[in-house]
Amino acid sequence: MEIFYNVLIFLHVMGFVFMSTPLFNLIVVNERALLGPSFNYYADRYQENIIRHGASRCYVFQLTVLISGVLLIIFGPLGIDALWTSWVVLAKTLILFTMMGLLSYVHFNLQPKIESFMSQIGPADVVPEGFSAQLKPYRVQRKRLATFCLFLVITAIILGLQVYGGFSSILTIVLIGIGGLFAWKANKTLLRFGWI
Ligand code: HEM
Repeated sequence: MEIFYNVLIFLHVMGFVFMSTPLFNLIVVNERALLGPSFNYYADRYQENIIRHGASRCYVFQLTVLISGVLLIIFGPLGIDALWTSWVVLAKTLILFTMMGLLSYVHFNLQPKIESFMSQIGPADVVPEGFSAQLKPYRVQRKRLATFCLFLVITAIILGLQVYGGFSSILTIVLIGIGGLFAWKANKTLLRFGWI
């Protein structure tokens, strides 16, 4: 049983590490911005493929975290009641469902709109005037949501470390604040050296 529990923790940790997709999508988008604002078929198609296919990968990692998390409380000392009696577990679960909802909004709502514009243009076509400007509102919204998702992942990790024993409230608030600043920075600039 101990080995099973250890494997669950391993899967839980791997799942949320790989849920860092919003961070890497922000990096991809900020790298793309360095090439200039005009539409470039290959660069834009490559970027959109990474983001579009990232959604299915992210669902799998989110489900890994959810299933391993629920099994950890069932087979660990907490018991299934922890889903509603432990505020840390409850908060992490709500954060995870929020992230699944945001991912679904981007995948089923925003991304198809971007794809419908992109499908009008082939590699050899002349790009119509103002084409990038038409894509921009959807991309800006998607970037904002990715930033918020990154903040939620960081917050859930900060809370995850406190399942069995809380940090001081001040430290928790300060760490969540730093997480918010980092997410904001990853939105505004291309992170070249990890944190900066
Ligand atoms: C975004 C979602 C989540 C993130 C980022 C997250 C993150 C973490 C982190 C960082 C730990 C500490 C790992 C360690 O100390 O080795 C942890 C442990 C744990 N998580 Fe999560 N978690 C998430 C969702 C959930 C959910 C949904 C549940 C349950 C419904 C859950 C249940 C647990 C339990 C029971 C532990 C303690 C495992 C142990 O050390 O024995 N987590 N989580």
